[in-house]
Amino acid sequence: MPDFVTDADGRVPIAVFISGRGSNFAALAEAADDAAFPARIVLCLSDKPDAKGLDIARQRGIAVATPTRADYESRDAFDAAMEAEVVAAGAQLICLAGFMRILGRAFVERWEGRMLNIHPSLLPAYRGLDTHARALADGAREHGVTVHLVTPGLDEGPILAQARVPVLADDTAETLAARVLAEEHTLYPDALAAYVRGAEPRPQG
Ligand code: GRF
Repeated sequence: MPDFVTDADGRVPIAVFISGRGSNFAALAEAADDAAFPARIVLCLSDKPDAKGLDIARQRGIAVATPTRADYESRDAFDAAMEAEVVAAGAQLICLAGFMRILGRAFVERWEGRMLNIHPSLLPAYRGLDTHARALADGAREHGVTVHLVTPGLDEGPILAQARVPVLADDTAETLAARVLAEEHTLYPDALAAYVRGAEPRPQG
């Protein structure tokens, strides 16, 4: 685990990247309201200027940045613009929370060990999109969520924490997603706190 530079209170400044609703961002922000939480959110970055989660950040007085891909000629240039925002905010660690863009390899490698993601499946099962519908289609009896470190392979990074939920007979993708999401909101803050306090990730099986 990298050595994080903390602020004067001994907390690690973090940036949260979102693209939409922002309920995981809100959960992280609520956890960080506690002065004993070992991280502090210094930036909410969204690649979508109309993301609902930005309203949560503004209400909380958290700095926002909304760079958009269309304003940059290449993905690398866009990645560089996002990174400049993170660096300017003084963030030491990035939490992806419903961020729907794939970051370039160079960006990911520069932040390896300092970038977390939350993925709504029990990795290594169901990498990628539509995890709930795919679990239902397979007749899975159990589903869940994973917080992991981000590596260049999509949803392949080492695991920090997982939470499991049962799949019920009458579940739809929406009811299953809601059950998983409720777990996400405690798992992400807990996994982040554990990681900055020194918890070791484990490889995906
Ligand atoms: C969550 O299900 C998360 O696991 C996935 O994207 C969704 C984001 O939801 N990566 P929200 O924007 O945090 O409400």
